[in-house]
Amino acid sequence: MSIRIAGTGSYVPERILSNADLEKMVETSDEWIRTRTGIEERHIASAEQATSDLAYEACRKALDMAGIEGRDVDAIIVGTITPDYVFPSTGCLLQHRLGAEGAFSFDLEAACSGLLYSLEVAYSLMKTHPSKYKHVLVCGAEKLSCVTDWTNRNTCVLFGDGAGAVLLENNGDDGDDFLVSSDLHADGGYGEILKMPAGGSRMPATKETVEAHAHFIHMEGKEVFKLAVNGMVGAGKKVLEEAGVSPDDVKLVIPHQANSRIIHAVAPRLGVPDERVYLNINRYGNTSAASIGICLDEAVRTNRIGKGDYVLLTGFGGGLTWGAILLKF
Ligand code: ACO
Repeated sequence: MSIRIAGTGSYVPERILSNADLEKMVETSDEWIRTRTGIEERHIASAEQATSDLAYEACRKALDMAGIEGRDVDAIIVGTITPDYVFPSTGCLLQHRLGAEGAFSFDLEAACSGLLYSLEVAYSLMKTHPSKYKHVLVCGAEKLSCVTDWTNRNTCVLFGDGAGAVLLENNGDDGDDFLVSSDLHADGGYGEILKMPAGGSRMPATKETVEAHAHFIHMEGKEVFKLAVNGMVGAGKKVLEEAGVSPDDVKLVIPHQANSRIIHAVAPRLGVPDERVYLNINRYGNTSAASIGICLDEAVRTNRIGKGDYVLLTGFGGGLTWGAILLKF
């Protein structure tokens, strides 16, 4: 049996928020945002759209590409830090909406590394119980606009909303698995530098927490930047080494889209030229757990990757969490 990627899908909301729009909201400039982050615009969900709505659209496309229905799915994992509710999980809402009657489902919270973590868990599940889990749906989805402080120029220029999905299939065929090697990490010692302080059991919501803007993303950007580069390079090199695959043989690197300067620092250290590194941060900003899935889906649908290609995914995020997965497509 082999476990392969049978479908991908992505979705971003219609509304575009440009750098020019942000110039009217906070003291910033299109020039600063472009040169410091690579972002030109981002998509923002409507008031009626929650994370599960974005996830649904991406998952439907992945199921359509694979040619299967919701009822064929055996498990659903949603990477997100912006669930519709604390509970029920976004996974459960999605399970119901997709008609995945036989599936169990849950959310996985690893911030921007959410899709990498979810792929690892899904793969392990399918390897352990191959007859039970034939189709597992993995989705990274975020409505970051609802945890963004739109009065803080240090963070509000960075984030956007969206969803990316991957449908994994074990069809009983012999062949290579999609996951060649993986290297995932966490270090809660750095939890303070990237967090949403209030809304959990440590600091439940009160009038004061709302007034203190404590329900928004807080970040020490410079510190995160350094750790991100080191983490992504370290994990990226490790998965290539473990698999015995040279950087020359990697068709495409898909890094988490947090800042184009981070990506341009990572690529040469991995030994991969810029033209083989996927970049769409200019159009979407940082969509956290959704970003790698959106890139993967675009790369598939534009034929930048095809059957048999090695694709290196690497990311990092709050937690801190970081890692890399080498895929054989
Ligand atoms: N417009 C204009 N000026 C700005 C803006 C802005 N939007 N934001 C900050 N500045 C100013 C600062 O106030 C500072 O001014 P000062 O020198 O007068 O104090 C100056 O620009 C430089 O600020 P820095 O913070 O040093 O800028 P830096 O080059 O580090 O870029 C950034 C900031 C873009 C946040 C960068 O550090 C970064 O990308 N870090 C990583 C972020 C990240 O990847 N987060 C990940 C995950 S998110 C998650 O997990 C949900």
